[in-house]
Amino acid sequence: MVRTEKKISQQEADQQTSFMEMVRKRNDAFFAKTGRHKKFYSLAMGCQMNAHDSEKLEGMLTRMGYEMTQEEMEADLIIYNTCCVRENAELKVYGKLGALKAYKRTHPDVLICLCGCMMQQETVLETLRSKYRHVDIVFGTFNLYKFPELLETRLECGETIYDIWQEHGEIVEDLPQIRHFHHKASVNIMFGCNNFCSYCIVPYVRGRERSRLPEDIVAEVQCLANDGVKEIMLLGQNVNSYGKTLEQPISFAKLLEMVHEVEGIERIRFMSSHPKDLSDELIETMARLPKVCKNLHLPVQSGSSSLLDKMNRHYTKEDYLHLVEKIRSAMPEITLSTDIMVGFPGETEEDFQETLDVVKKARYSTAFTFIYSKRTGTPAAVMENQVPEGVVKDRFSRLLETLDAVIYQENERFIGKTLPVLAEEVSKHDASILTGRTESNLLVHFQGDQGLIGQTVPVRLMENKTYYVLGKRVE
Ligand code: SAH
Ligand code: SF4
Ligand code: F3S
Repeated sequence: MVRTEKKISQQEADQQTSFMEMVRKRNDAFFAKTGRHKKFYSLAMGCQMNAHDSEKLEGMLTRMGYEMTQEEMEADLIIYNTCCVRENAELKVYGKLGALKAYKRTHPDVLICLCGCMMQQETVLETLRSKYRHVDIVFGTFNLYKFPELLETRLECGETIYDIWQEHGEIVEDLPQIRHFHHKASVNIMFGCNNFCSYCIVPYVRGRERSRLPEDIVAEVQCLANDGVKEIMLLGQNVNSYGKTLEQPISFAKLLEMVHEVEGIERIRFMSSHPKDLSDELIETMARLPKVCKNLHLPVQSGSSSLLDKMNRHYTKEDYLHLVEKIRSAMPEITLSTDIMVGFPGETEEDFQETLDVVKKARYSTAFTFIYSKRTGTPAAVMENQVPEGVVKDRFSRLLETLDAVIYQENERFIGKTLPVLAEEVSKHDASILTGRTESNLLVHFQGDQGLIGQTVPVRLMENKTYYVLGKRVE
């Protein structure tokens, strides 16, 4: 069956391919004249989805004849993919833009491009238009695939370009991408979010939830496997509601089964899972399929049922802990990670104690911890009883203390075991050390040769360092 949606998407993709060729011609002419390839510097400032979007931008830039550089100051084109989930993320962007102001005066030919979530906010655009006029191209989350067209237009007309869409169009497939690792890759399975947790800006800047067709996802995974990729990370803001809005609805568990069939893929991971939508079918499927890593990211946010209600999370502390129990009894070897927030409006010491209690009972192996940040436009921003900064900081450090002890304990159960570790990179501190991960996502440092990168090798886990484990390769 040919879907009209797909036809439009194909037309769009073809159009962008011709814009890529136009920019490439310009760059080829530049190279013929100067003997130098133009360079780009790309910075992803947000979550895994943001990083994956940047891989696509980098793929397009490479196809347009630019070379990637890690040195911002030698780039002809600078592109920041922004995040706005917390205020700090936004302040960082303004800081970096401020620093580029003087630079642009002395280097007027350098193009500064901004995209991503932060650009979807009207107030941000107003600030950019009035205070940061040295920016050349601004676009948002819904029209990333149009970057070649925007770039060509900027190069042709020389004027600043703002192209922000308020809503998503169709999903455009087959964008080129650059992968940062040879052996692992991320694959979007869905975009947007419908959950509207009361503190969160993501649904406003990423739009409504929409899923890619399973056959498109499987085809991409197959291509990656053919290219030597062994580990796949399936990405979505809430993968557990994957497929519900498709013409022919399909569950996330079924998608996992399909991806599991792809030969060459050894490990399948996914994130994020909203606890309210995690089905028994998924637990059963995870437990049954050997390639699906026994590691689950299950954001809790808070342990207090009354705060969870105010956060619009649709589960209680008891629901969450019951879910954890179910998961652990189906997969005793599983490790859990989570997101936790402190300082949500109205959080009392008792609420916070509930959070510490969940941390101890759920026994996380990793946790991403955040201080609540007020996001204008979200329901929580106008809630009363914002918690004073000093109180929040104190809770935050007590949370970290509790987590450290729990994480250490969770790692202990692996010490002394020999487990397959997928070698990922050379350690930044010691060239003779490799870092890799177990199926359970435990970070392992071990002595090894660079040639092992991308291979899965048996490693005996020896010493628990809380955030990683020291191991020894078993020959
Ligand atoms: N869709 C994912 C989370 C995406 S945002 C999920 O629901 O699991 C990643 C994390 O950022 C969230 O889980 C939350 O812990 C944190 N976060 C979101 N909005 C925040 C805010 N306003 N202040 C502080 N942390 C926030
Ligand atoms: Fe934000 Fe909640 Fe959606 Fe996650 S599920 S992106 S926290 S609104
Ligand atoms: Fe991700 Fe930040 Fe956007 S967390 S979805 S890049 S607001």
